[in-house]
Amino acid sequence: MKKILIDCDPGQDDAVMLLLAMASRDLEILGVTAVAGNVPLDLTQRNIRIIRELAGRTDIPVHAGCRRPMVRPPMTAESVHGPTGIDGMDIHDPAMPLGAAHGVDFIIDTLRAQADASVTLVPTGPLTNIAMAIVKDPSILPKIERIVMMGGAMREGGNFSPSAEFNILVDPHAAHVVFDCGRPITAIGLDASHQVVTTRPRLEAIEALGTPASAAVHGMLGFFNRHDSLKYGFGGAPLHDPCTIAWLLAPDLFASKHVNVAVETGSPLTMGHTAVDFWHVSGRDPNCDWVHSVDADGFYTLLTDHLARYPLR
Ligand code: BDR
Ligand code: CA
Repeated sequence: MKKILIDCDPGQDDAVMLLLAMASRDLEILGVTAVAGNVPLDLTQRNIRIIRELAGRTDIPVHAGCRRPMVRPPMTAESVHGPTGIDGMDIHDPAMPLGAAHGVDFIIDTLRAQADASVTLVPTGPLTNIAMAIVKDPSILPKIERIVMMGGAMREGGNFSPSAEFNILVDPHAAHVVFDCGRPITAIGLDASHQVVTTRPRLEAIEALGTPASAAVHGMLGFFNRHDSLKYGFGGAPLHDPCTIAWLLAPDLFASKHVNVAVETGSPLTMGHTAVDFWHVSGRDPNCDWVHSVDADGFYTLLTDHLARYPLR
């Protein structure tokens, strides 16, 4: 079993990422931390707890981390995700409470208790909590086997500014700390996630599972599709965040290149841009496996097969 720590900001695609991870028999989820991103922290932590109960995984601890980015003011994405962050599914107040510890301390304490190179971090929101944990206690770094993140863009350009992808734009200083941390990184940005589009037949295959979990995913991704289909003209929304878990479960579905990625933190025009040195022209050492292509049919088969593991009621 691969040990993972998830940090996220649900977000419909974060929610589907959680359902995919929580259905896996190959992943041991040590905990989930919430970060401010798509919606404010009070909603992202609540949304994680809603998904945890939907998945029947109340054994997994959930902790709330940082309310705002390291340097820049908060930025949210209700225009994409709706006011709750997970519009499209039935929303109720979760019964299981939030863990008492701050998310950053939970990350540090959890990593400290594990063997070297034994835990994979899976951030699918702004990188604030991960960077703060590294800054607060750099002795956790050897514990990290790999960081598998959703963030950045090269070929596709930005989705929240012409230059930047949302997760990096919200907290570029945190992204700089993470890309600079010296541990192995797999970055799945828009170049890859724009290839996994939730088309109508793929959505119908999920709906046909007929379970509470599949109904929630169908509702959320239907909502997500309405916004993103208009924005991109792809015939459905790109399903960004579940690519991280899919990469862990079936890496052969993805292709990547070992390159240097640096984050722009100075320019107002290109703030949060990920400078991906795809052709090795900078002289900077590679720090990242940049994922550039995905087998989309294989990805949706993996996702649907995992969602089929949830009970009928
Ligand atoms: C990323 O931004 C968020 O809106 C999504 O949840 C995803 O993590 C895509 O740019
Ligand atoms: Ca996200």
